[in-house]
Amino acid sequence: MRTLLLLCLAAASACTGPTSPTGPTYSTDIAPLLADKCVRCHQQGGIGSIRLDTYEHAKNNGVAASAAVQLGVMPPFYARHDGTCGDFVDGETLTAAQKELLATWVAEGLAEGTPKEQPLTPLPHLDGARELSTPLFAPVAQGGTLAAADEYRCFPIAHGTGRDTFVTGYDLQPGDARVVHHVLGFIVDPARMSRDGMRTNAAVMQALDEQSPSRDGWPCFGQADDQGLIAIDSVPVDWAPGQGIIEYPEGMGVPLRRDQLLVLQVHYNLADPATHGATDSTKLRLRTADSVERKLAFLTPDGLLDTLFGGQPATLPPLAASTTFSWTASATKLGISSLPYVDVMAVMPHMHERGRKFELRWKDSSAGADTCGVHIDAWDFHWQRMYYYREGSLPRLTAQSSVQVTCDYDTSRDTMAVLPGWGTRNEMCLVVMMLAFPPGI
Ligand code: HEC
Repeated sequence: MRTLLLLCLAAASACTGPTSPTGPTYSTDIAPLLADKCVRCHQQGGIGSIRLDTYEHAKNNGVAASAAVQLGVMPPFYARHDGTCGDFVDGETLTAAQKELLATWVAEGLAEGTPKEQPLTPLPHLDGARELSTPLFAPVAQGGTLAAADEYRCFPIAHGTGRDTFVTGYDLQPGDARVVHHVLGFIVDPARMSRDGMRTNAAVMQALDEQSPSRDGWPCFGQADDQGLIAIDSVPVDWAPGQGIIEYPEGMGVPLRRDQLLVLQVHYNLADPATHGATDSTKLRLRTADSVERKLAFLTPDGLLDTLFGGQPATLPPLAASTTFSWTASATKLGISSLPYVDVMAVMPHMHERGRKFELRWKDSSAGADTCGVHIDAWDFHWQRMYYYREGSLPRLTAQSSVQVTCDYDTSRDTMAVLPGWGTRNEMCLVVMMLAFPPGI
């Protein structure tokens, strides 16, 4: 906004005056820029609230578009990407020169130039995916201090590929976006022994399912069930609002065998009274490949949530405009210490609605290294996404590595201490890590 105003003042005629023949025009300068950075979301049928795909739309929304870009809220990419913390594939963000170009175009009167046919950026689409879905379900808030307005429900889903494959990407579409707060997809082997060591996963799932015959699935605060009995092989689906389509890096995938199932955990939030009685059937479009060069694994450590399983849960003090929680996990704790190394392909920070800032650091005890891995300055619950490291700058973790996460929250509207938990009114301090195993492992 400020940049815009200054530009207007500096060039007296700029904001109202006629178009300068030498300045940027929509046809030659702006359309390609918008097509590259904005139009996949901002067109008919796109997820953006306005359109930017024709001259008329771009002209009418030009001031807002430039302002949103200068403020850094659009395109939605909130991890610091100025080289001070992590080096990310940030193809969507604008360079200083591109921001300047947009501001100048607006300031000089939003000229069209010589009209010409502009190719329309296609809407994002995941090709070759198979469609799976959760049953039509009417969530009910479960109550209690950890889930006052929430229900976590797990549904077993047959993947139906009929053979051993690898998951290489997915597109998750909530049936009712008002109530679906996140979805995790666990890969479970029904024949594997469950964590109670006495029954198979299949037996545990059957017993859970039979407890509520009139409702599909079973409750699952935490992992694939409340108690963490079901032994999980991997978590290839980690969806939260704003994420869009996920395509794993080229040549990489998560093993999904013929005899394994997907268990989808859906977090329904019913805090808004208007959503009571809502029903949802969430669609998972899953892409698989017959072979990959490197296997991927997903970890979802959260040191704040972990305190619920110790003696005394950690709490966040109320009435604080800023209060932090930090945790560290070693390679052993993460379960990667027996591997020669793993490469971190991407990270996805996750907190709930009190989140303000998030920072992850990679540490290495043998090298004494302490590197900033991802930093978010203005957390937005509605825009959670995977941030992919650029090839050549992938963090590599070994048995000597550990990860440290610091979450900063605003509890100024809370009058009581805030507990960690899975409900939207509780807090989390979680990071999803997409890890690539060495080739051949
Ligand atoms: C990944 C999809 C995506 C991309 C890429 C994207 N936007 Fe958006 N944009 C959205 C969504 C969704 C909204 C609706 C508000 C929200 O949910 O935050 C939005 C809102 C906006 C708004 C606010 C409209 C209002 O309601 O007042 C402006 C302006 C805007 N975007 C401009 C841009 C510009 C300019 C670009 C490219 C430089 C861009 N956006 C790139 C998804 C996107």
